[in-house]
Amino acid sequence: SVPVEVNISKLEEGQLIKVMWRGRPVWVVRRPRAMLDALPLHDDLLRDPLSLEPQQPKYAQNPWRSIKPEIFVAVGICTHLGCSPTYQPDNFADHVEGIASGFFCPCHGSGFDMAGRVFQGVPAPLNLVVPPHQYLDDGRIVIG
Ligand code: FES
Repeated sequence: SVPVEVNISKLEEGQLIKVMWRGRPVWVVRRPRAMLDALPLHDDLLRDPLSLEPQQPKYAQNPWRSIKPEIFVAVGICTHLGCSPTYQPDNFADHVEGIASGFFCPCHGSGFDMAGRVFQGVPAPLNLVVPPHQYLDDGRIVIG
């Protein structure tokens, strides 16, 4: 399949852009510092906080599930039955108390944090998939 190039040079803090890769939506988000700082604070609420399941390339098996901490790349497909979760940068606490931002799947109520890590007690069994990707330079990444 054809790799997809994404220009992230104008991506603003908190902004999510969606591209299609292999017929699936892929999200690219520039996470602000506050989102990154919040990630390690709720590991005890997650099913796979250390990303032990192979839902990401080895180079993204880290606390941010990404190459550069601020840029998150994920396949925007719920690991339950394949709906596309909604990005909720501001009002995610409606779904998981105390968590400011995340991704919420409206189909059966699965919640994921800003690294795509699934919360406990929801139908989705696994973290969101991080696709293979690399940086061409600071402003461009290639997915696939
Ligand atoms: Fe997302 Fe079921 S498809 S919770």
